[in-house]
Amino acid sequence: MLDIAVLVSGGGTNLQAIIDRIADGSLSKVRIVGVIASRPGTVAEQRAVRADIPVKIVCRKDAPDLAAYDRAVIAALSDWNPELIVLAGFLNLLGPAVVATWRNRIINVHPSLIPSFCGPGYYGIRPHEAVLASGVRVTGATVHIVNEEYDQGPIILQKAVTVHADDTPQTLQLRVMQEAEQVILPKAIALFAAGRIQIEDRKAIILGGTEND
Ligand code: GAR
Repeated sequence: MLDIAVLVSGGGTNLQAIIDRIADGSLSKVRIVGVIASRPGTVAEQRAVRADIPVKIVCRKDAPDLAAYDRAVIAALSDWNPELIVLAGFLNLLGPAVVATWRNRIINVHPSLIPSFCGPGYYGIRPHEAVLASGVRVTGATVHIVNEEYDQGPIILQKAVTVHADDTPQTLQLRVMQEAEQVILPKAIALFAAGRIQIEDRKAIILGGTEND
């Protein structure tokens, strides 16, 4: 059994996808031991409570600096002793102490095809606004390992989504979430649970390959 903690900030649709895949058996040998929300009153928190998952709120603004925030996150997570940390729509930056404590065991889902439309300032609806402004025909989502650099860690899975001429940032965001994020995030967790992810330098090697190979 792989014990995971999920960190959230908003709607929690990615958290819900993980809960649903565990419930329908397609994500087996995985248990969500706890959810950390970055602020009180999120829909994501309601989803966790509904699924009987313990929730803690750890606010960045309650900590005087990043090091103190890091300590609060580590303390909250340590109670649950998770083997994998999943950032599912989590919009705060984690500091180096958290990254070092769970080295190569923190993953994030990002709503674009990294290395495009990522890095500081590209979160939530913003990557989709930038995609439409740029005129690219294809976007998508990426699941990657979290390291000290924003959206720069080794890539585990990506899935492309076609941009439509009549897309708004909102319609594109919804399609990227449903067709890409909610598909590849549970898949990446399953790869971890199966012990199939190995990190070499800047790359994530998937033992046994992916369906794209
Ligand atoms: C998702 O699109 C996620 O990829 C994005 O925020 C949204 C939250 O959705 N995350 C980032 O932008 C992180 N850089 P959710 O709360 O419904 O899962």
